Amino acid sequence: MIRFDIITIFPKVFQPIFNESMIRRAQEKKKVAIHVHDLRAFTQDKRKTVDDRPFGGGPGMVLMAQPLFDAIKKIKGRKKAKVILTCPTGKPLTQALARRLAQEKHLIIICGHYEGVDERVREALVDETISIGDYVLTGGEIPAMVLIDCVTRLIPGVLGKAESLVQESFEENLLDHPQFTRPANFRGMKVPDVLLSGNHQQVNKWRLEQSRARTQQWRPDLLSRKPG
Ligand code: ADE
Repeated sequence: MIRFDIITIFPKVFQPIFNESMIRRAQEKKKVAIHVHDLRAFTQDKRKTVDDRPFGGGPGMVLMAQPLFDAIKKIKGRKKAKVILTCPTGKPLTQALARRLAQEKHLIIICGHYEGVDERVREALVDETISIGDYVLTGGEIPAMVLIDCVTRLIPGVLGKAESLVQESFEENLLDHPQFTRPANFRGMKVPDVLLSGNHQQVNKWRLEQSRARTQQWRPDLLSRKPG
């Protein structure tokens, strides 16, 4: 079981994602527990201020240290937990990183916002900063969802046998092979003969060749990546 605590200024956005499909089932099966915390609950003023202007000037606002320090203190207590900040400056999220995080017991995710988070939060509280890609989103909520989704499906027992993890994109730094389902001939577009042959060895060989060819064509950078 992994426990996720999310600290956010938009707590409502998580419900529709986590109350459906695989993540919902993972919670029902007690493989994960997800707790969403409203950062504003940890503010100390009447207006529930979470952000302020950056020292030194410049556009935008910065998430203040105090509500985040208090939130982490309350959630973490004396327990051991890994604190993650979602931010475009972070370490890129890869399947290898997801596999590593799936070994953890407790992850606390701070959803970054505005121009950033007061650096003292990162220095004092954050164990790992993670980016979901080289583009800038309006906030860290979607990255937190992405992170929880890809980590959760790696927890043993979350996916059924039917959705096995054995052969899929990125597991060997290769993209997945093409898939087809019935009918074998759709409007004149035919499924490759080898897949209808019943010869598993030939099928596996073909799939591996396809995986290598697609990776070479679409993501040659993966081929030089060290195994995760
Ligand atoms: N917040 C804004 N953009 C982000 C990104 N690409 N990854 C993680 N957090 C973000």
